[in-house]
Amino acid sequence: MLNPRLKKVVSKIKDKSLRRMTLKLISDLSVTIEGKLYMGLPLEEVPASKYHHHSYPGGLLEHTLSTINVAIALCDSAENIYGGRVNRDLVISGIILHDLFKALTYDRRENGTYRNSLLGERLDHLTLAASEIIRRGFPADLIHIIVASHGESGPASPKTIEALICHVADEADSKMNFEILNAARYLVREATGESWDKIDSKTAFKILMLKAEGGWEGLKKGIESIKTKK
Ligand SMILES: [Fe+2]
Ligand SMILES: [Fe+2]
Repeated sequence: MLNPRLKKVVSKIKDKSLRRMTLKLISDLSVTIEGKLYMGLPLEEVPASKYHHHSYPGGLLEHTLSTINVAIALCDSAENIYGGRVNRDLVISGIILHDLFKALTYDRRENGTYRNSLLGERLDHLTLAASEIIRRGFPADLIHIIVASHGESGPASPKTIEALICHVADEADSKMNFEILNAARYLVREATGESWDKIDSKTAFKILMLKAEGGWEGLKKGIESIKTKK
């Protein structure tokens, strides 16, 4: 069953064919190589990275939803302030698909951390996404968004406004999340001497707010109550 928040976002794609193709890819996320079918982790479980940003179960979904918010704000700026024109359908579908194939590149260890899957050791999420969406007949401008999503450090740099918006939104959201997780880990270490490597963004934000509102004492008490609830 498709996550309701993701479903709502998909429904914003106005072009019927692109909406249908995007939805089909999410609900049938797999690739076949040499006759072997690879399905990957369920979407609700996939992190967006192993150690970097959104490195916890459900991180990919949070990253996708948040990046869409950022991208829509950039579309508004490009159109309403700079007088440009943006194909929002491509932006929404592009963001949804840009990291989706990470589901096939990670495996979950028993202790809840992640490692590369056998497929993920050999192929990265952009290569998997590009080859599969080419096979499924997605438009070239959408394929470009995916391969350009890592900007200068990927296989192609953005050549359309839609690809640029997706890349900038992706970077902004990844950076914000990474910095928040890092700051929370630092605060926990400073307050308690413990290191919490596994931390999700909701807990991280809670920790930041505890420090901002209650200082070190408030933070210490708050961490104790988070620990007892875990
Ligand atoms: Fe990516
Ligand atoms: Fe991303």
